[in-house]
Amino acid sequence: MPRSALALSFFAILISGCRAPLPDPTSPAALLYARRCDNCHRPYNPHGLTAAMWDLKVKLMEPKMQAAGMPPLTSDERASILEYLEGHAGTE
Ligand code: HEC
Repeated sequence: MPRSALALSFFAILISGCRAPLPDPTSPAALLYARRCDNCHRPYNPHGLTAAMWDLKVKLMEPKMQAAGMPPLTSDERASILEYLEGHAGTE
């Protein structure tokens, strides 16, 4: 295979990896996550972080949401989002 074709297929894999669809995308928790967490950046794929990291990230995002004037996560929303993210989290 010519080098350029190789590079192209490499990028195709890279891009499709980054744009990997969210797991279980039609579940209420996935929709809630996508709705609450895509205002400033795309919703990151839960596989990308461990459960412990998700716990930390959501805590770090809450003051950002508040600073941006967004309504805070209710405890139910936080619980569903974390359950979704941690249920599909990566292992390292
Ligand atoms: C008000 C804007 C805003 C909202 C809403 C928001 N984020 Fe973020 N997020 C950011 C910014 C800005 C960054 C860039 C990195 C930083 O400043 O920590 C970021 C980065 C991240 C990162 C990558 C951090 C890293 O260390 O690589 C993750 C994961 C993340 N956000 C998850 C979430 C989740 C989960 C939610 C929903 C609960 C959310 N974000 C909602 C602003 C937001």
